[in-house]
Amino acid sequence: MPDLLHLLLGILAYLAALLTAAWTWRHWHYRSYWLTIGYTLTAIGVRVTWRKVALGCGLTKKQHRWWFTVVPRAVVSTGLVKVRRRVQRVAVDVKPWMWLPLPTRYGWRVTVRLLEGQVPGDYADAAERLAHSWGVHAVRVSSPRPGRVVLAVTIRDPLVRLDTLPASGELLTVIVGKLETGGPWVIDFRTVPHWLNAGATQSGKSNLANVLIVGLAPQPVALVGFDLKGGVEFASYGPRLSALATDRAESLALLDDLVAMMLDRMGLCRAHGARNIWQLPAGLRPVPVVVLVDELAELYLMAGKSEKDEVARTSTALLRIAQLGRAFGIYLFLCGQRIGSDLGPGVTALRAQCSGRICHRVNDPETATMTLGDLDPAALLSARAIPAETPGVAIVASQDGQWYRARSFYVAEHIAEHAARIYAHLTPSWADLTTGAHRGEVTETDIPVLLDA
Ligand SMILES: Nc1ncnc2c1ncn2[C@@H]1O[C@H](COP(=O)(O)OP(=O)(O)OP(=O)(O)O)[C@@H](O)[C@H]1O
Ligand SMILES: [Mg+2]
Repeated sequence: MPDLLHLLLGILAYLAALLTAAWTWRHWHYRSYWLTIGYTLTAIGVRVTWRKVALGCGLTKKQHRWWFTVVPRAVVSTGLVKVRRRVQRVAVDVKPWMWLPLPTRYGWRVTVRLLEGQVPGDYADAAERLAHSWGVHAVRVSSPRPGRVVLAVTIRDPLVRLDTLPASGELLTVIVGKLETGGPWVIDFRTVPHWLNAGATQSGKSNLANVLIVGLAPQPVALVGFDLKGGVEFASYGPRLSALATDRAESLALLDDLVAMMLDRMGLCRAHGARNIWQLPAGLRPVPVVVLVDELAELYLMAGKSEKDEVARTSTALLRIAQLGRAFGIYLFLCGQRIGSDLGPGVTALRAQCSGRICHRVNDPETATMTLGDLDPAALLSARAIPAETPGVAIVASQDGQWYRARSFYVAEHIAEHAARIYAHLTPSWADLTTGAHRGEVTETDIPVLLDA
């Protein structure tokens, strides 16, 4: 008996040591733990429980199958039902075929073959149910080819804690944060020239502008700020800004300058037979300009009737820059709490020109819809579900038609200020930027023609 007790105690001690070792490994190097033990156990668990999970999430279908089943026969005098086993056709719940789950950095991904009559939307609808069944942070559904869906599972939210901002990249490209997939969140103005950045107050809009300032400051680009909150957001980045407007009059003058600059660049391109500044010889190519607007609504708000004209001029100028700026190296990054048509008729047209969309936490569904357009409804739901505790998290949509959950790197004001100061020597002067030699070769009257062309 004491021997048996000893043996049991030994086994228990052995198991405890094993569990402690696994726990320590998981704690100290989660990634290697996940790729070996964690993933293997999860994959087995997912495959074993798939029928139950699929059934619970409404992803099975009734199909008739030959089945070896029990059938009741006669009732005997004692009241017992006699049964017999035989093969017969019965309706059974068939689960979708699942491939082997593959490990990813933050979870796993698995391909599932759709059953007859199923569409990827059925899986998107069930994504939340699947996430709860598996006890994971999120399940994202994509369909790389007909008849298949890929379920990408993230176990824990990878956007809760982020590393620091990496070094500045290629011209006009900044890695501003991290995507939920673990990949970098890149803003590349040459691919997507104009961006809308919306979100409720304290959702992280200005932080993203700071990230851009820090990323673009070491690059040979001109930065221009519109900050109608009296300059509270951008004034301290002055050393790296070629121009800054803090009230309506300054904004109008600055927008007029930008339109004139655009016309001048058009003239230059025309003179050299180029369609855009990137086709010009390197020596002649003008400096790209990134225009950052904090709180777009301020540009459209009218205190009285007297300002109607000014607002109309602002709206036209912004729209023109959005329509033609891309070719002539003028890029817009527009931030605002609401970027809706209630601001004025020009805003809808302006929005249509901005192919880059970023929606931080929002309070109402309309803002999400306005910002993200008619994207997948799941994107809108996801935008509304961003918690206030994670500022900087946003839904990002750009040209590839995909949407991603992402989070910007945190860049405190003093870091952006520091970057603005140390790269101040790279700031082109506004006078140099706006004194064009080709003014007059293209005039404002050419713009409608160019827009139609
Ligand atoms: N990516 C981030 N990571 C961590 N904290 C962040 C991040 N982005 C923003 N924050 C925090 O949230 C606060 C509010 O951010 P921010 O000033 O960018 O919001 P906002 O949307 O511009 O608000 P408002 O509309 O009031 O100007 C910041 O002071 C910062 O502490
Ligand atoms: Mg702000």
